[in-house]
Amino acid sequence: EDNILEKLPLKGKKVLITAGPTHEAIDPVRFIGNHSSGKMGFEIAKASANLGAEVILITGPTHEKVFNSLIQVIPVISTDDMYNAVHDHFKVADIAILSAAVADYKPKEVASQKIKKKESTLTLELEKTKDILASLGAIKTHQFLVGFALETNNELENAKDKLKRKNLNLIVLNSLNDTGAGFKTDTNKVTFIDAEDTVTEFQLKSKAAVATDLLNKILEQINA
Ligand code: CTP
Ligand code: CA
Repeated sequence: EDNILEKLPLKGKKVLITAGPTHEAIDPVRFIGNHSSGKMGFEIAKASANLGAEVILITGPTHEKVFNSLIQVIPVISTDDMYNAVHDHFKVADIAILSAAVADYKPKEVASQKIKKKESTLTLELEKTKDILASLGAIKTHQFLVGFALETNNELENAKDKLKRKNLNLIVLNSLNDTGAGFKTDTNKVTFIDAEDTVTEFQLKSKAAVATDLLNKILEQINA
């Protein structure tokens, strides 16, 4: 029986995960979005369930699918939807991993009718969205909070800054400079930075393998 427990180290733990892009409405038929596939978040959800966790997967629009009795999928569209769903479930979570590619800005006003083609240029005014990850860092109690950082320059410095600013336990630096890493691929090249400033760099590998590395790191940290 010791053996079974060893294989299911997250049994009885609740893991909250965000995945995919968000879509911010411009009018009833248009939105601002990004190319996130949702793959990384779905792989983290599957890896967590494989370790025995009860998973709440809050995902923006994606083609990814998962059928697992341990994974509850909550589909959302916009950053505001995702923010609300995350806050509905954060209190009971033991671990929260925010891998979604959340929009940084949204249209300040959403047109109630389809915007008609008129002038040769159109200007949309955008306003900042709520930072879901930072909002959790500000209220967390016992939760182990993990964020991602997508950087193209000053990567380590920027990621460390995000870790501190958002009050995280761990940040996963995702470099878009590496070919084969990023939004549309099945592979990723990541670096973990923990709250003690320990930096661990990994080779390019499948997103499933990255998810396993991440959960191993989290287990190591919460059991330390
Ligand atoms: N994030 C979030 N809510 C937002 C924006 C980002 O929860 N409105 C989360 C992402 O899910 C990710 C982390 O914050 O875990 C970092 O996202 P990233 O885009 O790298 O950083 P930002 O803080 O948005 O800063 P910038 O895009 O300017 O680098
Ligand atoms: Ca951003």
